[in-house]
Amino acid sequence: MLTGQRILLIIGGGIAAFRALELIRRLRDRGATVTPVLTAAAEEFVTPLSVSALAASKIYRDLFDLTDEAEMGHIELSRSADLIVVAPATANLMARMASGIADDLATTLLLATDTPVMIAPAMNVRMWEHVATRRNLATLIADGVTVIGPEEGAMACGEYGPGRLSEVSQIIDAITARLTDGPLTGRHVVVTSGPTHEPIDPVRYIANRSSGAQGAAIGAALRDLGARVTFVTGPAEVAPPDGVAVVRADTARAMFDAVRAALPADAAVMAAAVADWHVENAGAQKIKKGDGGLPSLTFAENPDILAWVSGAEARPPLVVGFAAETEDVIAHATAKRARKGCDWILANDVSPGSGIMGGSENAVTLITAEGAETWPRLSKQETARRLARRIADHLA
Ligand code: CTP
Repeated sequence: MLTGQRILLIIGGGIAAFRALELIRRLRDRGATVTPVLTAAAEEFVTPLSVSALAASKIYRDLFDLTDEAEMGHIELSRSADLIVVAPATANLMARMASGIADDLATTLLLATDTPVMIAPAMNVRMWEHVATRRNLATLIADGVTVIGPEEGAMACGEYGPGRLSEVSQIIDAITARLTDGPLTGRHVVVTSGPTHEPIDPVRYIANRSSGAQGAAIGAALRDLGARVTFVTGPAEVAPPDGVAVVRADTARAMFDAVRAALPADAAVMAAAVADWHVENAGAQKIKKGDGGLPSLTFAENPDILAWVSGAEARPPLVVGFAAETEDVIAHATAKRARKGCDWILANDVSPGSGIMGGSENAVTLITAEGAETWPRLSKQETARRLARRIADHLA
């Protein structure tokens, strides 16, 4: 619950601004007070009247509104909140925040405040990926701003990729975690994520199609519930989440060392697609054509990190693995759970037709000692949130 918490909500001008209405409603349902500030551009997308009605609050729009200055100056307005949330945060708003520009009420409040700030970016994928936005994002993170999302998906402009405003439930979870102790506050969780790269020689390696998207979403969801997360990641396409301790490990053996060093923990979630073998006779130099015909690689088995953690002396009270299968998913995953000695296995079908490996959705079956529970096909973020809540319930 957010009873008594005061949130100053700055609504930026983007197509996602209408979702701020639901955010206001749900924040108020949880007991928060919401003071809305609309940028001029936001008023092109949502009306001040609907925002004000939903928030049951006066809304603030103009820096030079003298009545407001007499009643409550912008300095006071910016400091009378427990948290400032910018949703949606447009590329333009992020750029002005990053460079300390204060040319309207929203940016003046952001510059004048000493209250924590959280932003939920939403913009076209090209704008999100533009080097200037990347730079502004890095500046904002370094300045201590918490960033929620954006998520990947189809966009209003018809393009596909990262740039969608996070789900309202996710923004609320993040706000709740920031303002209250989450159910995992004080807990330490180790997460592995992404593929591993096993060298053949200094320039070539064996890899797999894991993007690291599911592991990153799990790290973020656990963080949002208050956990301290050690995020051990292989060379993944998807960036690690903010607010977690990132340990990079390229090979299975490096990942094994990193996980061992990260224990003890209250839970371990092994979402990495770890290579089962490494090349034992990897070349110290680039293997050249014609040096005696086709190269012959010999393989040696990698340590099974999940099996090791499950049997470790410092075994976390809850060990969760994944089972990436291409056939007989539940039977294979059930056998894998027993073989590896973990508590839970999330089984997923990674056959090429499923679109799961490298895709944005997942369809998993949770296998525990009690049996198998099939979850609907969900975004990787929603799958992660379900898992994080289950972990929190289990550890409670
Ligand atoms: N795993 C691990 N270390 C390894 C291999 C796998 O920690 N060396 C973990 C993965 O992170 C995942 C689980 O074990 O949580 C299952 O991975 P998967 O690739 O499905 O299983 P494999 O061990 O490769 O088994 P199989 O070859 O029978 O599919």
